[in-house]
Amino acid sequence: MAKSGNGISREQVDHREEESVLSERLAFTGRIAASIAHEIRNPLSNVSMSVQQLREAFPEDSPWTKHVEIITRNTERINFLIIELLNCARPPKLNIQPHSIHEILEGSLDSIKTKIGSKQIEVRKKFFRGSSVINLDKEQINRVFSNVMINAVEAMPDEGRMHIDTEVEGKLFVVKIRDTGQGIPEEDIIRIFDPFYSTKSSGVGLGLSMTYGIVVSHGGTIGVESEWKRGAVFTISLPVK
Ligand SMILES: Nc1ncnc2c1ncn2[C@@H]1O[C@H](COP(=O)(O)OP(=O)(O)O)[C@@H](O)[C@H]1O
Ligand SMILES: [Mg+2]
Repeated sequence: MAKSGNGISREQVDHREEESVLSERLAFTGRIAASIAHEIRNPLSNVSMSVQQLREAFPEDSPWTKHVEIITRNTERINFLIIELLNCARPPKLNIQPHSIHEILEGSLDSIKTKIGSKQIEVRKKFFRGSSVINLDKEQINRVFSNVMINAVEAMPDEGRMHIDTEVEGKLFVVKIRDTGQGIPEEDIIRIFDPFYSTKSSGVGLGLSMTYGIVVSHGGTIGVESEWKRGAVFTISLPVK
């Protein structure tokens, strides 16, 4: 079974080196991404405004309208990418408060309902019976869970199961999100936390690198295990302080 993430069970030393190299790389990529995003934002908003003017100038049946639509669609797409980039590049300022992880998980599940849509996806929960209240940033951790759940749903084109299990292991609150989707090929598993790594036609590839950053900033770890064609399991461990 292939493994990756900063929660992997290799030698401690290797693990720490790998983790710090990955964090540095993410921080560096983040700074470059933020500068590029800022530089693109202004000219892009000029393009959007001018296109809006053109749209108003042409009658709907004009042969030019379809080109205006194409420009509009693509500027919106670029704008979306820029926002994703900025979200990813900005290190989150954490608003740490005691919150129930189980409530956050329920909220994340609720928010991805539209993603599940008409797919036959069964959600199975096995929650730890004691308290799940720990200190964390609710919004950011919700993002972590939602990102991982959305990926799970996207890995199951028509049907499948998503298991959400929680457990307390010593000083860690552990959340496992498992799917029965397509899985991740062994040679790719090491790259899935890289910024811009995506195997999806319309994927941005920033979800997991953002997720990684949030978990690490909480002092936690995230790891993945997968077997190609058999699904994947993401393990998020957060310190119970
Ligand atoms: N549950 C999963 N099952 C299979 N592959 C996954 C799963 N989660 C993530 N991946 C792989 O990791 C890649 C990166 O994920 P992510 O950073 O969220 O970017 P995106 O979803 O935009 O592609 C995905 O494109 C996919 O190849
Ligand atoms: Mg994603």
